Amino acid sequence: MLNFDYSIPTKVFFGKGKVSVLPEQIKEYGSKVLLVYGGGSIKRNGLYDDIVKGLKTNSIEFWELSGVEPNPRITTVRKGVEICRENKIDLVLAVGGGSTIDCAKVIAGAFYYEGDAWDIVKNPSKISKVLPIATVLTLAATGSEMDVFAVITDVDANEKLGTGHPDMAPRFSVLDPTYTFSVPQNQTAAGTADIMSHTFEAYFSSTKEAFLQDRMAEAILKTCINYGRKAMEEPENYEARSNLMWASSLAINGLLSFGKDKNWVVHPMEHELSAYYDITHGVGLAILTPNWMKYILDDNTVEKFAEFGVNVWDIPRDGDKYVIANTAIAKTREYFVSLGIPTKLSEVGIGEDKLEEMAKKSVRHGKIGSLKPIDHEDVLNIFKASL
Ligand code: NZQ
Ligand code: ZN
Repeated sequence: MLNFDYSIPTKVFFGKGKVSVLPEQIKEYGSKVLLVYGGGSIKRNGLYDDIVKGLKTNSIEFWELSGVEPNPRITTVRKGVEICRENKIDLVLAVGGGSTIDCAKVIAGAFYYEGDAWDIVKNPSKISKVLPIATVLTLAATGSEMDVFAVITDVDANEKLGTGHPDMAPRFSVLDPTYTFSVPQNQTAAGTADIMSHTFEAYFSSTKEAFLQDRMAEAILKTCINYGRKAMEEPENYEARSNLMWASSLAINGLLSFGKDKNWVVHPMEHELSAYYDITHGVGLAILTPNWMKYILDDNTVEKFAEFGVNVWDIPRDGDKYVIANTAIAKTREYFVSLGIPTKLSEVGIGEDKLEEMAKKSVRHGKIGSLKPIDHEDVLNIFKASL
């Protein structure tokens, strides 16, 4: 295992009715709040009313930034920064999924930055200080509720970039699974695929002796496999929604990757797809993942894929390693199909024309991947195999 510094500072309030802790928690940071949310799902499922009632009853002043887009735009971040500066906001409260939370994080970081907000997306080292951030999560997927990252899009430049800072970890997050009952089937599926992909990014690492982290990763994968479909069929199944919600946070908060070599691979590829075609993040990941797995399967990686097959897909251990590995990859693909996710890029409107450009951008910082690093040519091949 490699050396690491453990820090997961976000306080989590998990369970039914936990939104009631908001006022007292917010007051630890001040009394002026920017409430950030998306296109209106929180108004339809009653969460907005619950939050606003709590803020008003406790004399917490708030301003609103609504309409955060899926694949959040830098233009929306800029609007939020303006509101924060004009009103001397003490805390940015994101109520929504990953897009809303990411938007709030970059607003909070850009608040203290004198130049344009896009600078701190392109170059995280320009982030020196961050306004306190808190979240009420409504979609189990990105893990942004408990991590230090944010992903923002500049549509005009076809750029979707990740940034991050230790202080971008939310100070606290409210995780009430009942607010995810209203998540539609397609977003439940995409969210489940995203959680699985974060887990894969940590699991398929070159570090071989992180036994504990790998068993935890397998537990998270099994949780997704067990509950993803169930949550789609029975949207108000609390057991399914709560397990997915906690899996979302644990998959990317560091727990699985501390002590392991990290170099993500499917995410940098997918971010180019959503930068150019504005597709749903989890859908892009689910399309690419089985093709990436197949592409990197060789004598050096077969052990790991066989371990994945035995421990996650319960394939009998005795047998040819390649057969186990290929069965595991096929099962992964079948699982995404069972969630109703498309299997081909062409099904989400992606053709050949931009593949070369996107492949180049995927490896803009060098080779990607830890178990088997891949270059521009490899990414292009994986894109082509995914068409
Ligand atoms: O905008 P509203 O009306 O809220 O509707 C949203 C949106 O249309 C809807 N939704 C969310 N909660 C709901 C709900 N609908 C009904 N009931 C609810 N309870 O779902 C749609 C998608 O929401 P979004 O926030 O875009 O989804 P997600 O959480 O998957 O976030 C995706 C974004 O996060 C980034 C992705 O790249 C993408 O931009 N990521 C962020 C990461 C991070 N910060 O660590 C890591 C991830 O790998 C990922 O890259
Ligand atoms: Zn993701």
